[in-house]
Amino acid sequence: MGSTGVAVAMVIVVMMVQADVKPQRDFNLQRFAGKWYRVGLAYDSPTFLQYKSLVKVSMGIVTPLSNGNVNLTMWDQMPTGCVIKMYQYVATDVPGQFTYFSTRHGITKDITVVDTNYTEYAIVLKHKVFNREYTQVALYARSLKVKNEVYQKFKAFALSRHFPRDSILAPPTAENCPASGH
Ligand SMILES: *[C@@H]1O[C@H](CO)[C@@H](O)[C@H](O)[C@H]1NC(C)=O
Ligand SMILES: *[C@@H]1O[C@H](CO)[C@@H](O)[C@H](O)[C@H]1NC(C)=O
Repeated sequence: MGSTGVAVAMVIVVMMVQADVKPQRDFNLQRFAGKWYRVGLAYDSPTFLQYKSLVKVSMGIVTPLSNGNVNLTMWDQMPTGCVIKMYQYVATDVPGQFTYFSTRHGITKDITVVDTNYTEYAIVLKHKVFNREYTQVALYARSLKVKNEVYQKFKAFALSRHFPRDSILAPPTAENCPASGH
């Protein structure tokens, strides 16, 4: 296959990946707003496996904007300390589906809220094309404790997306991030 063939094949793969992911039916952004904890994570990247023992539960605040976009503030416990990151997710025509421009990588990523019941959990798929295709699935919960049935649902989804078993984890809680406590 020439380089054009490879490029065409990649585009087809990307279209297939996006086409078969449906967001939560009747997604309601107002109900999705507020505080979430990222209690589960699956990341399809070889470097992630090296660092996964360092990953801690992150906290996020989802703020809907009047134009349908979303501000997301995340508190991540890093080896260097507690880091606050701000993201802006841009609404698409499909409720529950957003795009996000990563200034760090200079690329657009797709964010899909695959499944949520708003009061307890959300399964969110993040997809990017960066040399090869990297995809992340996150399990967000309204509290630090999540029911086993919810974790199993997240795990089953990640496995159905062909994430390796050892890339799916439930990280320990952060010690002091955000510093003011939870
Ligand atoms: C959303 O984020 C942008 C960029 O950080 C900021 O300027 C704006 O004030 C934020 N809006 C709200 C409602 O938090
Ligand atoms: C949300 O999901 C959890 C776990 O499946 C369930 O126990 C809870 O009743 C659900 N809440 C609502 C409002 O559907």
